[in-house]
Amino acid sequence: MNKKAILVLIILLSISSFSQDKLIEQKVENLLKQMTLEEKIGQLNQYTGDGGATGPVTINPNKQAEIKQGLIGSMLNVMGVQHTRQYQELAMQSRLKIPLLFGLDVVHGYKTTFPLPLAEAASWDLEAIEKSARIAAIEASANGIHWTFAPMVDIGRDPRWGRVMEGAGEDTYLGSKIAFARVKGFQGKKLGDLDAVMACSKHFAAYGAAVGGRDYNSVDMSERMLWETYLPPFKATVDAGVATFMNSFNDLNGIPATGNAYLQRDILKGKWNFKGFVVSDWGSIGEMIAHGYAKNGKEAAFSAITAGSDMDMESNAYRYNLAALVNEGKVDIALVDDAVRRILYKKFELGLFDDPYCFSNAERQKKALNNPEHTKFAREIAAKSIVLLKNENNLLPLSKQIKTIAFIGPAVKPARGNHGFWSIDVKEVDSTYIISQWKGLENKVGKNTKLLYARGCGFEDNSKAGFDEAIAIAKQADVVILTIGERWDMSGEAKSRSNIQLPGVQEDLVKAIHTTGKPMVVLINAGRPLVFDWTADNVPTILYTWWLGSEAGNAIADVLFGDYNPSAKLPMTFPRSEGQIPIYYNYFNTGRPSKEENHTNYVSAYIDLKNSPKFPFGYGLSYTTFEYSNLQLSSSKIKESEKITLSFQLKNSGKVAGEEVVQLYIQDKFASVVRPVKELKDFQKIKLQPNETKTITFIIDKEKLSFYNQKLDWITEPGEFEVMIGTSSADIRLNQLFELIN
Ligand code: GLC
Repeated sequence: MNKKAILVLIILLSISSFSQDKLIEQKVENLLKQMTLEEKIGQLNQYTGDGGATGPVTINPNKQAEIKQGLIGSMLNVMGVQHTRQYQELAMQSRLKIPLLFGLDVVHGYKTTFPLPLAEAASWDLEAIEKSARIAAIEASANGIHWTFAPMVDIGRDPRWGRVMEGAGEDTYLGSKIAFARVKGFQGKKLGDLDAVMACSKHFAAYGAAVGGRDYNSVDMSERMLWETYLPPFKATVDAGVATFMNSFNDLNGIPATGNAYLQRDILKGKWNFKGFVVSDWGSIGEMIAHGYAKNGKEAAFSAITAGSDMDMESNAYRYNLAALVNEGKVDIALVDDAVRRILYKKFELGLFDDPYCFSNAERQKKALNNPEHTKFAREIAAKSIVLLKNENNLLPLSKQIKTIAFIGPAVKPARGNHGFWSIDVKEVDSTYIISQWKGLENKVGKNTKLLYARGCGFEDNSKAGFDEAIAIAKQADVVILTIGERWDMSGEAKSRSNIQLPGVQEDLVKAIHTTGKPMVVLINAGRPLVFDWTADNVPTILYTWWLGSEAGNAIADVLFGDYNPSAKLPMTFPRSEGQIPIYYNYFNTGRPSKEENHTNYVSAYIDLKNSPKFPFGYGLSYTTFEYSNLQLSSSKIKESEKITLSFQLKNSGKVAGEEVVQLYIQDKFASVVRPVKELKDFQKIKLQPNETKTITFIIDKEKLSFYNQKLDWITEPGEFEVMIGTSSADIRLNQLFELIN
């Protein structure tokens, strides 16, 4: 198609989209004019259904009656064609027949489940991450779900916080790219398509910085850190066209996020011009009373609607107080109308007024929930998410001719645990489709390989009664595989841990098996970085297997036997001890940096521990090796308006094909505010055959050199920069200085 035709097409598409917007806006206005104040407030009211509470439930026995009166606009935790249809039929009995929105936490899959989001982030594979969200949307939308409360885009630098499992880790650049990909995946080509669901950017904002890593705790941070580190992933979701936002439980610098006009009106709806709507987190409007920010529900409702919270999830604050606030002239009806418009717009955009049951189709449900393509992909992305931490004696990949394997540990047999937190117990399907780690090994090995099993111990209990049996089968085996970690529900919401060591007596089990002298592989299952110092120092072969979803067993077996060469890289820093937390790679150098090799006094260091992490951000090994060479910059001096093309050679110097995540870091050597020792500014995942070499190029432009100055203006400053190419943040293979000039 020639350029002129493309231009005409783009113009026509823009006109049609513009006219579609105008058409919907007109429909919204026509409907709004007919609504009573109670009906308007009804649209701002959301309750949970019977599909499993995800917070302290508001007892309201009249939900069904209130839906018929048009006093509820959305339900969450209602799933399946039958249930959503039943609730929608109630809404169709209301005076204006305004359809309900059905929301659900489809965080990493619906029936087909994928690795925890933090594990997926370890794949650094944006295309795969987008596809994972796309499949989740296809399955969820076929089950009556219009709206997923995902992606969670909170930056997580504190592994004591159980919700790091839901996000993309510690880095703003990687987190922003993944946030964008997930929104695109969930929302598909456009909202209104039957396989598209509204995404929800959460939790706005800075929830991951809760003091002490304790969930729901206060957050106090500088404007600089807020803008530089915590807000960009949210902005990336706005750029991706996210339909909704969810605010967060925490107070930020003294103001609860739910009542924070700076966040929701000044930044989100003002500076970022966000046109969707904001749902409160579960009960967070009413919780402003506990915060000590509102004396009662009425004050809480006033603060929330004034600050830009459009929908009230489960707190009843709007339901019982907003009408009085409007009638008393304390809240301008325009604020209520704005919130209602935003919500009605999405209901029109989804096509729910044309057909309120369009997402509740039994045929589509059956097809979507049994799609072998989804299962195949779940296995692929799970393998891509497994991080090879150690392989010192090249024990991996295992030979398929092994005679006897002992598979030991509390994670061997349970199936459901592989789903991890924030998975959905879909009543329409049973959990036998989930491939346990034992089943995965059975599926992989031939009839000449004998598998022995012992649990050894539990995840959390302190009983060593199972050790003898475990040691006994280890002694009979050629190789021992030990699979341990946190139980699946030890990370997630309200799962903060003060001690992130391997729970119970699991590390004692590792030691006991280690004394047999048998070759052993340790698999660590968790939703967060754990501390496992002895194991990390003494076991030569370790895989971090997170919780990998419904194909976990097959994916783990694929990696163990080399049918997939591990390529994942850590999206979060792994500390040596909780005492180092918060610990992250892009720290400031300080005036007294510590050089570990010659530790001296009067430097920024602990007297009892190294500063460096156990495993750094961006770290992960492969069954092959990669060589980096010949770094070239197109120029060593550039002006702000110019760009540098950086290139280097990457060679697979090993014997098997593999993928390498090459990471580009930049340090601004001197600036008007201190700058991190390095910041991730780009990355590529490259697949190479043995002995194959590729030239890799990156572009360094103004965006990669910009930062917030003292006045929080986003600027660049002339001066010296260092560009670094690394296989991890702590293993820089190539580097060079260049200068930004006026
Ligand atoms: C929970 C979570 C939030 C979730 C919501 C609905 O409390 O904080 O992430 O989407 O409630 O389940």
